[in-house]
Amino acid sequence: MKRTHIKNLSEKKGEEVLIKVWVDVRRDQGKMAFFDFRDASGKIQGIVFGKPEVLEIAKTLRPEWVVAVTGVIQERNDKSAKEYIAKFEETGIQEKFIKDVEIEITGFDILNRAETPAFEITESTQNINEDVRLKNRYLDLRTERMHNNLVMRHKVAKLLRDELDTQDFLEIETPILGRATPEGARDYVVPSRLTPNHFYALPQSPQQFKQLLMSAGTERYFQFARCMRDEDLRGDRQPEFTQLDLEMSFASEEEIMELNEKLLIKVVTDLYPEKRIQEIPFPRITYADAMEKYGNDRPDIREDKDDENLLAFCWVVDFPFFEKTAESDDPQATGEWTFTHNPFSLSKPEFIEDLKNKTNIENIIAAQYDICLNGYEIGGGSVRAHDPEVLKSILGILGHSDEGVESDFGHMLRAFASGTPPHAGIAWGFDRLMMVLQNEATIREVIAFPKNGEGRCPLMEAPSLVSDTQLNELFISLKEIKKGSE
Ligand code: AMO
Repeated sequence: MKRTHIKNLSEKKGEEVLIKVWVDVRRDQGKMAFFDFRDASGKIQGIVFGKPEVLEIAKTLRPEWVVAVTGVIQERNDKSAKEYIAKFEETGIQEKFIKDVEIEITGFDILNRAETPAFEITESTQNINEDVRLKNRYLDLRTERMHNNLVMRHKVAKLLRDELDTQDFLEIETPILGRATPEGARDYVVPSRLTPNHFYALPQSPQQFKQLLMSAGTERYFQFARCMRDEDLRGDRQPEFTQLDLEMSFASEEEIMELNEKLLIKVVTDLYPEKRIQEIPFPRITYADAMEKYGNDRPDIREDKDDENLLAFCWVVDFPFFEKTAESDDPQATGEWTFTHNPFSLSKPEFIEDLKNKTNIENIIAAQYDICLNGYEIGGGSVRAHDPEVLKSILGILGHSDEGVESDFGHMLRAFASGTPPHAGIAWGFDRLMMVLQNEATIREVIAFPKNGEGRCPLMEAPSLVSDTQLNELFISLKEIKKGSE
């Protein structure tokens, strides 16, 4: 017999079926046994009644055992079945726990046994110690809340892919092994065996490659891009996170903002109909006003902070391009000035002469826009400098020497001098967006296998020591760690 998924069992009334499931709950009642069974598609009640040989096996089954169950699908008539049917008729939404039918069990085949799980799978694990959850993540992800977070993350990503595809965007992968870039955070570096004493860096974002794709004439690029940054961690920061990254040739600031606004509205209206967007079009707040009114540049403008279904998007615009290095926390900043967002941005048109002449630096406003949601910065982007002379001048203001510019940015300057169209783009922090949409407190709840607060993976125990053979191949010798210098 072919397996039926639980979500399809309502249509099988009176039929004999085979389901392959986890034992969620078992309840014994003398000559009867009740089960809740679970597969990825849903839950259903099972009942053993009047079959002593089946009941005998039923009594041995424990939570989280994996079983193949044969049985006949019967209509249910109890109170919770009636409530379920009434709700289904009213909303048309099929809940995960199907209650209009149950399976009257005729046989079991045990596919695998399970040790007693480290925590209850039938409840939310929100209050369980996080390292215990992460060490047993495969169990944690079986819970309804965590499974639903994965399902919705998939659905949002699919909607965005489909929508961008209809608008002629190409999804293009860019390298993970790259070169150290001055993007603001510390790089993760990877030693090269073939070029000893040299290192790749993992991408902090696909910024340079996506601009080079504009030089390459692709015009509309996007990617669900994995980004790596060695920064101090917080609830909305992981060392490894996902951006919805996009770039468009010939696009103005307005076009990028309009496209992104439409995408976000579509995600909410199609997939989160219970949620309300506070204001459309999304309000725009200047950086100066945000700092004055809210004391930060990711304002929470919700009119009701108790409403978990309220989404208050806003744009923050008119950022200063440069700030004094002394006031910056950028570990790579060397000169008198550093950039506030991105060295590849352009200024607002009225400041381009200032950029070229390196004048009026403190007042130059960048063509940069951030998108915020309920107090989180969920994305940021800018119009880029595509004229090599302008980029050179910006790098000069940032204190790069001519040789430094050539070695770090020569490839960008040559690409820009080879017919690169004007272009602009943005990247969303996809984990942050999903965190807010799913009403979760940290982005770790919407990432299948995140790192803990110390940047470690308790499941695989990464990072780990490597063998002497591996180190020797890489010409690496380790230094002793002195107490206090860790
Ligand atoms: P930026 O550095 O602002 O821009 O990153 C874009 C968005 O990514 C999210 N984000 C993070 N999410 C989780 N963990 C982190 N450590 C983390 N760091 C950033 C934020 C942020 O708004 N290349 C540019 C984009 C561009 O100009 O097109 C960039 O990476 O939500």
